[in-house]
Amino acid sequence: MNFTVHSSAAYHRQELRTLGWETTLCNILADCHNPCRTTLDIKKSYGNLLFDYLDGLFSFERINHLLEVGGGYGWLMRDFMSRKSFAKVTMIDICPHLLDQQRYALKSLPGSLSFREENFIDTPPTVLEDVDLAVLNENIGDYPTITNLPRDFLLDSPAKLSPSLRSVWKFFNKYGLPEPLHPVFHINIGALMALEKLCSAQIPRIFLSEHSCEAAVTGPYRNLISVSASDNPECIILKGHDEFTIQFSHLEKIGHYHGYKIIRGPVADYIPFEMTPRLRAIMKAPSPWRDEDEIIRYFIEDLYKYEYLLLSNERHESE
Ligand SMILES: C[S@@+](CC[C@H](N)C(=O)[O-])C[C@H]1O[C@@H](n2cnc3c(N)ncnc32)[C@H](O)[C@@H]1O
Repeated sequence: MNFTVHSSAAYHRQELRTLGWETTLCNILADCHNPCRTTLDIKKSYGNLLFDYLDGLFSFERINHLLEVGGGYGWLMRDFMSRKSFAKVTMIDICPHLLDQQRYALKSLPGSLSFREENFIDTPPTVLEDVDLAVLNENIGDYPTITNLPRDFLLDSPAKLSPSLRSVWKFFNKYGLPEPLHPVFHINIGALMALEKLCSAQIPRIFLSEHSCEAAVTGPYRNLISVSASDNPECIILKGHDEFTIQFSHLEKIGHYHGYKIIRGPVADYIPFEMTPRLRAIMKAPSPWRDEDEIIRYFIEDLYKYEYLLLSNERHESE
């Protein structure tokens, strides 16, 4: 069987010096002069937009211990901590360089902060025990993905399988993942393991966002904004490592199994923009007229290509 296990761990531990190569939505919106903010009239940074959205779905007053995994430069958490002071904040990141940047970004903010340099896949469950909200923003696409798996091995007895394949088999059987559409498929095994860990720790609220392989544009802009969806994780080649788009329907299965209610949508749900005549012209043009138009067009497409899940389980409220 010629499957491949892709891991970005060595790159993140040893090589990563900047996120400049992967322009995350959070980093784009941190600059209030960025054309995506000015042209689209987006008034706030990413962390503030997300805070507003989540605060409308549950009260942040209930969040005492906030966990962020893969916080990058720490800007999302800086926004959150500027809006509310949390009794305890934990930042987990595999990358020592980015963890230093997070310490710097958060150093003057009040609250008890702890930083853990580790691969989240190896984080001990005890660390998650009293977490009220976990945030993993543009993080799970970095976790291991296995590519080129022949669908037929799912019919084999698990006893005959190698450890990697047995773990894939276990996820299909335990969580009732649907039979892959393609005879050869890819699976976001690391993302599944990460969410299983968060759900097993019974964290009452879990927020995840990432590039999706199941994205769709619905509503008034469905003929104007185009996104692709292959229903099979797609490889995004980046500096020094590969990232994979996420099969969100698999994550939903895990959340439902563990008793969570789930809200799923495109990140456009919390990054509202105005469809001005200029933006409409940019989206309709057969090819962009200017570099700035191209940047804006990619950004708007990303607002639909990125999906999020908010999992909540009132039974697990600590109060
Ligand atoms: C694409 S960056 C996103 C940063 C930030 N959340 C944002 O949206 O701008 C991915 C982040 O996840 C971290 N990361 C990647 N793999 C990880 C792992 N296995 N465990 C913990 N953190 C990881 C990276 O070091 C980085 O901070």
